[in-house]
Amino acid sequence: MCDLIIISFFINRSNIWKKAFHFSAAMAKSKFEYVRLFEVDDRCLPNTWIVVRVDGKGFHKFSTEHGYEKPNDIKALSLMNRAATSVMEEFKDICLAYGQSDEYSFVFRKETQAYSRRSAKLSTNVCSLFTSAFVYYWNEYFPTIKPRYPPVFDGRTVLYPSNQNIRDYLSWRQADCHINNLYNTTFWALILKGGLTPTEAENKLKGTLSGDKNEILFSQFAINYNTEPEMLRKGTVLVRRKVPVALPNGGTREKSQIVQEHVDIIGDEFWNTNTHLLTLT
Ligand code: GTP
Ligand code: MG
Repeated sequence: MCDLIIISFFINRSNIWKKAFHFSAAMAKSKFEYVRLFEVDDRCLPNTWIVVRVDGKGFHKFSTEHGYEKPNDIKALSLMNRAATSVMEEFKDICLAYGQSDEYSFVFRKETQAYSRRSAKLSTNVCSLFTSAFVYYWNEYFPTIKPRYPPVFDGRTVLYPSNQNIRDYLSWRQADCHINNLYNTTFWALILKGGLTPTEAENKLKGTLSGDKNEILFSQFAINYNTEPEMLRKGTVLVRRKVPVALPNGGTREKSQIVQEHVDIIGDEFWNTNTHLLTLT
């Protein structure tokens, strides 16, 4: 023991050792190291909601080339939901996700420390996993169609400081879903069932309000828009819920699972029954 202390004393004091250490440190920090200074610190403000939204690039073309049903393809939307579930399985700090059409928004807990809250790290990792999961599970939803080219999704990180802001953001996306879906449902009914050309259908819908579109659907095509599938009218909300799972030797136990819900998130009801989503943990 005493010998060890004496040896370490000499090593620590030795100039040879100091020089060698300095030399290796200098080697580790090469003269090129300074380029790191060009990297900007993009850490998101603390205590703010972080939303990463991914959106399909050129999905107008992608959906046509892959024979998506018009105006909505349940298989394609289900594949989006599957890819989003993969993202939530990986990133436990995502408390809620909302998807419609070719886009998905992922809401990270206000206090998340994932990737030290670095904006680009968050958006690129989420976007990359979403895209690879979309391709990975493609075959389960489109078993007879091979992807004609690799699909691309863009991703962005946006911060929302207050609970009202994050609710308004999600309301904005769901209102967008409603407006587009009502328009597309009427537009394609006029073409596929009414025999109009796309230009004629577009002209017929110019300047119409939602009540007018509901009326066209009901009077001309006997479609009650309010009974259309909720996934199409409201989009999909992914949240974690405790659900009972069966045990091998009988009985059940509660397990946290990611579930899909097609519910209104604009009104208060969803938030009043899910108060935990907006409170700090
Ligand atoms: P960028 O996002 O700007 O690259 O353009 P985009 O072509 O992806 O258009 P945008 O994201 O604004 O809209 C998504 C488009 O995807 C819609 O306009 C539709 O053309 C298409 N799309 C999404 N879901 C469906 C679907 O279920 N069925 C069909 N037929 N098309 C869909
Ligand atoms: Mg798009």
